[in-house]
Amino acid sequence: MNAGRASTQIKAMLKELGLDPALVRRVAIAAYEAEMNVVMYASRATMTFSVTPEQIRILVDDQGPGIPDIATAMQEGYSTATKEMREMGFGAGMGLPNIKRNADEFAVESTPGKGTRLDITIYIN
Ligand SMILES: Nc1ncnc2c1ncn2[C@@H]1O[C@H](COP(=O)(O)OP(=O)(O)OP(=O)(O)O)[C@@H](O)[C@H]1O
Ligand SMILES: [Mg+2]
Repeated sequence: MNAGRASTQIKAMLKELGLDPALVRRVAIAAYEAEMNVVMYASRATMTFSVTPEQIRILVDDQGPGIPDIATAMQEGYSTATKEMREMGFGAGMGLPNIKRNADEFAVESTPGKGTRLDITIYIN
């Protein structure tokens, strides 16, 4: 498992582009939370990362159980994390709310039994 690797690489690329550190931090937090959710709850995923002069976009498409009730999952403190995940420091139920807080646009689509897709956009200026 390379948990955190994708978001670490995204952060490094944005730093190299010379983007505002506060902006880089917002993207890194959103990417990290999305990546950790895939690692904990899904079986596999693709993360697509794109940068234009206007915006940074992260698409995360996973195959997994999906999220049956997105509104509930978006609530602060809601978590289905197992005891093992909690022992590793996960399960505060703050990942999705944190993505929302750091994103300018955030859409979640999910099909139970199939998977989940996150579309995260952060504007550059
Ligand atoms: N990709 C996903 N596939 C299936 N379920 C998910 C996925 N992402 C989140 N969930 C569900 O939504 C809940 C809330 O997610 P969120 O990231 O906010 O909190 P958490 O992962 O439980 O805890 P934290 O992120 O604070 O460690 C999860 O507990 C899980 O039930
Ligand atoms: Mg999470």
